[in-house]
Amino acid sequence: MTPPLIRTICCIGAGYVGGPTMAVIADRCPAVQVTVVDINQARIDAWNAEDLSKLPVYEPGLDAVVARARGRNLHFSTAVEEQIAAADMVFISVNTPTKTKGLGAGQASDLRWVEACARSVAKAATGHTIVVEKSTLPVRTAEAVQSILAAADPNGGARSFSVLSNPEFLAEGTAIRDLEAPDRVLIGGEDPAAIEALAAIYASWVPDERILRTNLWSSELSKLTANAFLAQRISSINSIAAFCEATGADVREVARAIGTDSRIGPKFLQAGPGFGGSCFQKDILNLVYLCRHFGLPEVADYWESVVQLNTWHQHRIAKLVVQKLFGTVTGKRLAILGFAFKADTNDTREAPAIRICRDLLEEGAQLAIHDPKVEPDQIERDLRLPASEAPDAEAGPTRAALSGEGTWWSSAAVEDALAGADAVLILTEWQHYRSLDWAALAPLMRQPAWVFDARSVVDPAAVAAAGLKFWRIGEGQA
Ligand code: UDX
Ligand code: ADP
Repeated sequence: MTPPLIRTICCIGAGYVGGPTMAVIADRCPAVQVTVVDINQARIDAWNAEDLSKLPVYEPGLDAVVARARGRNLHFSTAVEEQIAAADMVFISVNTPTKTKGLGAGQASDLRWVEACARSVAKAATGHTIVVEKSTLPVRTAEAVQSILAAADPNGGARSFSVLSNPEFLAEGTAIRDLEAPDRVLIGGEDPAAIEALAAIYASWVPDERILRTNLWSSELSKLTANAFLAQRISSINSIAAFCEATGADVREVARAIGTDSRIGPKFLQAGPGFGGSCFQKDILNLVYLCRHFGLPEVADYWESVVQLNTWHQHRIAKLVVQKLFGTVTGKRLAILGFAFKADTNDTREAPAIRICRDLLEEGAQLAIHDPKVEPDQIERDLRLPASEAPDAEAGPTRAALSGEGTWWSSAAVEDALAGADAVLILTEWQHYRSLDWAALAPLMRQPAWVFDARSVVDPAAVAAAGLKFWRIGEGQA
């Protein structure tokens, strides 16, 4: 078996996964021409932008990789079918959000974009084409892709296809590092030559022992399982955080103590405002849906509880903010520091800030939201509420505040967000929030003022010295 030599790659989908992944492949494999295609013209234009700070995805290190490869062997285009026709290998890297209606609504993945891609490949491909599933997909999706491709040439013909699963394990904010030095690369498939062709691409920079070959279904299921296990750790530690608060223990101490057990390990034990991001909730709900479908309701319930705990935990944080502020936040100003689902990304998909801010707005709060990377119009879409003008902190309550209507505005600086606020709530662990000068910030706030640190980023002593009241995730009052 000689694996086919891959000279041209086309990746369908120029999002958080497709863009960075292809940039690194192009950077590491200069002999391969890589084109990322998307139906979204604005996105493609942004990937082609002269100014690298305008790339549509913010990832540390991405600009340098794109600068090296773009125009040489990395291209961004909207000519989807033309690029498929020219490719030896096509990656499918489109969005697969949870379905919002119809069969499996709220749980199953919406595969309409994946199916549309499969049909585009069936129509446009030439010669032998290896099709690689990169998007997170439910188990047995490859089967659907395979049948669409097989139906394209019912009588055989000059074209042929091999389908592989190659799930992405990159985490946002560390995508480039995760791609350049992955723990493992997983390739699932039935056709050994196709598997080796893809393995040869990765072998340009990944040691062979880190390239795992499995069957298609194992590969698809491994992705869901990895995310389910990671999310489960977060729900576990957050459940213990709530228990710590009730009992006087400190979740950071508990996490350190259990993390030194080599069987448990220290990673992913950081209590916080709950997990967000495009993968965890979606993948678990997918798993839940599939378990029910395959007649395993107890297994489905087990995994569903991981998501339920996460949702409960976020409502819990909003509720305790209200309780600490004398049981009402109506008309009060609250500063929200951080809207992204974690630091070093501009992504807000499933961000804990969305649920917590919505709860506080529902209570009539006036939110000043600060995030170093998230655009105000994104926050507007997430909160389903247009931004208002930032009111003058000196000039008493606004009409909205007096009528009990929740409003929000975006603050370009932390100082602006805190002006006149009764409380500040830290929801994303941006580096900048670790070194805030609380002595200088405290006088800007209305006293008695609170700091709610859901990410364990501030120094409790500095906050106390500034005369501010302090709550921290998972810290009981001993
Ligand atoms: C995740 C997986 O890590 C990655 O392998 C997969 O390919 C996609 O999904 P991502 O969503 O980018 O990546 O971020 P991750 O770093 O895993 O964090 C997810 C959420 O968990 C964030 O909201 C983060 O703040 C939270 N988290 C993470 C915690 O609350 N505590 C922790 O200890 C770790
Ligand atoms: P991910 O986080 O999985 O990368 P994104 O939503 O960031 O998801 O990106 C997916 C991209 O796929 C979007 O830019 C979208 O326009 C693109 N896309 C979806 N369907 C198609 C399709 N049929 N052809 C080309 N591009 C598509």
